[in-house]
Amino acid sequence: MSIVVPTYKEALNVPGLVKRIEEAMAPTGRKFDLWLMDDPSGDGVERVVAEMKLDWVHLVTRHPPRGLGYAVVEGLRTAKGELLVVMDADLSHPPERIPAMVEAAERTDADFVIGSRYAKGGTIAGDWSLFRHLNSRIATLLARPFTRAADPMSGFLAMKRDLLGKAAAELDPIGYKIGLELIVKCRCRRIVEVPIHFSDRTLGNSKMGLAEQIRYVVHVRRLARWKFGELARMVEFGVVGGTGVVVNLLALTLANDALLRIGMESQKARLNTAVPIAVLLSMTTNFFLNRVFTFADKRRRHLGREYLTFVAVCLVGGVVNWWVTTKLAMQWTAVTLGLQAAAVCGVLAGMLFNYIGSRAAIFRTVRD
Ligand code: GDD
Ligand code: MN
Repeated sequence: MSIVVPTYKEALNVPGLVKRIEEAMAPTGRKFDLWLMDDPSGDGVERVVAEMKLDWVHLVTRHPPRGLGYAVVEGLRTAKGELLVVMDADLSHPPERIPAMVEAAERTDADFVIGSRYAKGGTIAGDWSLFRHLNSRIATLLARPFTRAADPMSGFLAMKRDLLGKAAAELDPIGYKIGLELIVKCRCRRIVEVPIHFSDRTLGNSKMGLAEQIRYVVHVRRLARWKFGELARMVEFGVVGGTGVVVNLLALTLANDALLRIGMESQKARLNTAVPIAVLLSMTTNFFLNRVFTFADKRRRHLGREYLTFVAVCLVGGVVNWWVTTKLAMQWTAVTLGLQAAAVCGVLAGMLFNYIGSRAAIFRTVRD
């Protein structure tokens, strides 16, 4: 069994960690080793490890790119154990729970074991700020499309080496959530959660900050593309479409007010000017967002031509929307909210048309 621990400026915590692991593992009689995957911390951790003179403790000084996830993946590839455990160095994760996790991982039906704060019986040291709680909960919610586990954000985990298999080459965890990356890429089905008490670190500082949270959102998006492919792209197209609705409503309101102020009294005349402005503006923002976001992986061609094709596609999409809405609305006259239901179908049909059109006519080829 191998324990992989990412470290960055944790020299102060290493002795306590090693001692507690040793004490926790002794009663099990198992052979184990420890891999400290250090991003050059410059805090004398080399000396700390050398002075302990323990042949089961290995320190690896890494090369860039720096990062918790990369450090763990490198550790999983370097360590030789058949059973792999990953945990933090700061003693937030109690080494005393390792035996229970390893036992769970050895059960033949378990793919993946989480040292879980949110499973029944799991606890968190009291002094978490409301902000940190909220943060943790929102992050967990974002992971819901991938797993039903209570605590997929945990960095305390155990698994058999076999599980890595061919997924090992596909691991690319930017940021902190290595557990989620493993669950998704290794296609884990049976996840067992062992409750733990998560303590606050007493020495050193957390390296989690805003940059890490942004990286997490990027990570989730990548995982969605990996797992759901075209469907995830359509959802992104839909999200961009949603921003377009906001742009449209804002532009319409502002243009209408402005026209009234310069003395355009007839509402019909105002709408004839304001609606095209709003439509064109939202189409433009949609175009650029789709270009840099939804279809970022597609090769860029001549901007003007791409833009005009997009506008053409969307205009036809508008007609599709109008056609579907009126057709259905005529049929559903007796239905409550029939008109609204028809409009929703119209919007969806128009959007689907826009998506397929953009995909086929504009953002075709993969970038090299
Ligand atoms: N090698 C390496 N490189 N290690 C790193 C780096 C890095 O860039 N950044 C952090 N680490 C190590 C730390 O030294 C520590 O051992 C572990 O990764 C966790 O880092 P903390 O800075 O203590 O993170 P945290 O307490 O905010 O987050 C932990 O708890 C979260 C749940 O609240 C982590 O376990 C997260 O994965 C987990 O989601
Ligand atoms: Mn920590």
